[in-house]
Amino acid sequence: SRNDATTRIAQVFSGTFAHSTPNAALEILENCMLGVDDEGKIAFIEKDPDVDSLSKIRGFDASEIIKLDKYEFLMPGMVDTHIHASQYSYTGTALDLPLLEWLNTYTFPVEAQYKDLDFANNIYTKVVRRTLKNGTTTACYFATIHTDASLLLGELADKFGQRALVGKVCMDCNSAVPHYKESPDECKAETDRFIIELLKKEYSHVKPVVTPRFAPSCSASLLSELGEIANNNNLHIQSHISENKQEVDIVKKLFQDCKSYTDVYLKHNLLTNKTVMAHGCYLTDEELKIFHERGSAISHCPNSNISICSGILNVRNVLNHKVKLGLGTDVAGGYSPSILDAIRRALDTSKVLTIQDPDHQTLTFEEAFRLATLGGSEALSLDDQIGNFVVGKDFDALRVNVCVPGGPIDLFPGEGPKVILEKFLNLGDDRNITEVYVAGRRVVPFWNT
Ligand code: GUN
Ligand code: FE
Repeated sequence: SRNDATTRIAQVFSGTFAHSTPNAALEILENCMLGVDDEGKIAFIEKDPDVDSLSKIRGFDASEIIKLDKYEFLMPGMVDTHIHASQYSYTGTALDLPLLEWLNTYTFPVEAQYKDLDFANNIYTKVVRRTLKNGTTTACYFATIHTDASLLLGELADKFGQRALVGKVCMDCNSAVPHYKESPDECKAETDRFIIELLKKEYSHVKPVVTPRFAPSCSASLLSELGEIANNNNLHIQSHISENKQEVDIVKKLFQDCKSYTDVYLKHNLLTNKTVMAHGCYLTDEELKIFHERGSAISHCPNSNISICSGILNVRNVLNHKVKLGLGTDVAGGYSPSILDAIRRALDTSKVLTIQDPDHQTLTFEEAFRLATLGGSEALSLDDQIGNFVVGKDFDALRVNVCVPGGPIDLFPGEGPKVILEKFLNLGDDRNITEVYVAGRRVVPFWNT
């Protein structure tokens, strides 16, 4: 615990806290007290505290402690490591085509409309608010090719208080919608402009991410340019990899001098310790070794993988290769904008692998919980700032109540905090997430509703 006289304690919570650590997928802290300073950082965590002396030492008023009841707990905010904000309008529809047809039929025509900032404002406002309500305190967003609409997404994340990485999408090849792609020069110039303008805003929790859509949409020279921009400015990188078999075959044909799909990104300096690649269903062990060596991450998007019949990621194998891994909704390939859903679909997918091979070691709910929180923070290289309850990290947290009136969960006598968490993960929804905090600021319930 730090004892820093320059920061004031702004909030103190007492009760049960659930989080993950590098050593434990689930650690439950009962009868604990957690203080947040006026910069939104966790100032102390004390188990079985002597409240009188703690409040004197830390300089807070014991009467202002927020006491959680028996059916409540705090958990770290959830991290969506892969979501297309621009596809939110048709979430829950258009799941009848495989990836490449899906992109040309549904996705590119919709994304082309973000030229219109009023159109963008409506949908981007709704996706930021919806994901915050669902407990996504950090989102790694794909926007569209349009710089101004992408800047607007950053502005809205900042306004509503969500931590976000925002990517202006880059694509100069193979779009069936002729007006939905850029020339390579435009793409580079607009990426530069996007990064400069977003950084100029100095948002505390919103940062740009270099975003080649995926190898089939990008020329080799565009990939090189983007690798250079990211590396020269120490920026995050996001893209897609090995989602669907047809896609993997096309990449083999388009990049014949590369040994694998992973090699395409590696050769263009796009695999860094700030890279997150969505899907990875068909990566070989050789490729996973490269991900491990580079410190690059995979975003597991199980709803999308099933919904558009892409593939099944073997999460156990990824974890065995010690590759950083988080969960993604992949809206709108995935039909749910909730990371709680991603937890459930990740567990389902792992159970399918166990049905196929009884020796497969099924993912546990505790492991899925870690992927949704600490794992996501690692995948986005934000684990020095968020992901669990550690003194000095930002307070990104959910206040969960499993007994809200009219809610989806029934509890029975003798059920303790571990069962309460498991029921929330499997049965809960946004009604159970009564408050959401990002860097100590309460962002749900919303300030203007
Ligand atoms: N690969 C390239 N673009 C996309 C996209 O928008 N969604 C998904 N799921 N995969 C992609
Ligand atoms: Fe995606």
